[in-house]
Amino acid sequence: TWTAANVVDDQVAIIREQVGDARVICGLSGGVDSSVAAALVQKAVGSQLTCVFVDHGLLREGEAEQVEVDFVESTGVKLKVVDARERFLSALAGVSDPETKRKIIGREFIRVFEDAAREVVEEAGEVGSEVKFLVQGTLYPDVVESGGGEGAANIKSHHNVGGLPDDLQFSLVEPLRTLFKDEVRAVGLELGVPEGIVWRQPFPGPGLGIRIVGDVTAERLEILRAADSIAREELTRAGLDREIWQCPVVLLADVRSVGVQGDGRTYGHPIVLRPVSSEDAMTADWTRLPYDVLSIISTRITNEVKDVNRVVLDVTSKPPGTIEWE
Ligand code: XMP
Repeated sequence: TWTAANVVDDQVAIIREQVGDARVICGLSGGVDSSVAAALVQKAVGSQLTCVFVDHGLLREGEAEQVEVDFVESTGVKLKVVDARERFLSALAGVSDPETKRKIIGREFIRVFEDAAREVVEEAGEVGSEVKFLVQGTLYPDVVESGGGEGAANIKSHHNVGGLPDDLQFSLVEPLRTLFKDEVRAVGLELGVPEGIVWRQPFPGPGLGIRIVGDVTAERLEILRAADSIAREELTRAGLDREIWQCPVVLLADVRSVGVQGDGRTYGHPIVLRPVSSEDAMTADWTRLPYDVLSIISTRITNEVKDVNRVVLDVTSKPPGTIEWE
């Protein structure tokens, strides 16, 4: 029978068997998946694990701080924070194709991990040895949608599955590979991961990089981050967090729309709200948000965020739409 406790016992045994006494690193994003994967590996091989948090500059407001406060304080995991904002921005410069963005982000992630891994070994004074294992919070739907499942079509290359470089130096530890999101949450609770993390809405690894339709620039990220922050604040205030699976906020950077703001005509960009309800992200329906909440979000975004003069609502289910716009 399936119980979270059984999954923990089984995975702990499997991880110990796979890893032996080698060093392991884990990319921590602050989301449910990587946090639960890290907590499992921490339980299995404790001090052999170092978590690496990459600030790729594609994060939402306050996210970097949350990882340190929520997760590290509650689990005591060893954490290395890498500021890679410049590196990702230059790697993404001029790129607007979604799959290319994912591949670049996946590749840069791995390169940053490789550097961090070398530092871990150096700092441990183990010259000549290396980190052999990389933990990833890959879930079953990621595997299926990247063409790894039986008979599955390659819908998109999730950065943590299809987006890995061919010359990867690490062996992967993926203890969540057979699980769906609700199962991962149950395992997280079983492991004592804080509820604030266990119930966090999904956020894609490539972050805001795949929520800018067009190429990614520092200025566009700033606009999107501000709009996203307002939407999240108002949805939380309205008590809708558990009802919504996730609500991507998307900047149509390559689209311009005419508006009238203050004293005159503006020529700005639309922001799309994409609230969805789902069980496992494989299918989804658009969430019927209350009109008054939508109204507050729209008014605030157009008043407070520069260069945005229009807010639109995505009313497409999945299929035919995907949850993200890219
Ligand atoms: P889609 O857009 O395919 O999204 O309906 C399904 C779920 O996956 C998330 N997503 C990603 N997560 N790397 C990730 O880690 C990715 O490249 C990626 N693309 C989409 C999306 O937010 C939703 O929860």
